[in-house]
Amino acid sequence: MAKKKRILVLHGPNLNLLGKRQPEIYGRLTLAEINRKITDLAGELGVEVEIRQSNSEGELVSWVQEAPKRFGAIVINPAAYTHTSIALRDAAIAAEIPLVEIHISNIHKREDFRRHSFLAGVAVGQITGFGIQSYLLGLRAAVESYNSGELNL
Ligand code: DQA
Repeated sequence: MAKKKRILVLHGPNLNLLGKRQPEIYGRLTLAEINRKITDLAGELGVEVEIRQSNSEGELVSWVQEAPKRFGAIVINPAAYTHTSIALRDAAIAAEIPLVEIHISNIHKREDFRRHSFLAGVAVGQITGFGIQSYLLGLRAAVESYNSGELNL
């Protein structure tokens, strides 16, 4: 049997607080509940997912750097590092596997400082504003990109 495709799903800073953090913006589901939905969809799509969360920029950078050794694509909600991290952008370029950027809220509808993403220009694409569905759409997009062999450049 062919080996299952593996996709790395990364949650950035403060997303461990989902469920109680600004529920009017981010909803009431906890990170564990969201992760279950991602894992269920991965099962339906016939791919394996590994899901990690970190509040540390350096840890996220290391995970993106190492991803190509074990994964064929990345789905990432970089959270606040979206708007600040050139390091994450450089890691994504170096990884050379498809990366899909996702956000729960529509970052273009909020404060001006959220409109700019350092990652968007090196991602396959950005999915923003669909609530937790953004993760599920992101996973579907990552599987498509993985299958079509598209790079994130
Ligand atoms: C977010 C949007 C970011 O601006 C914010 O810093 C987050 C979450 C989102 O999923 O909507 O922490 O990435």
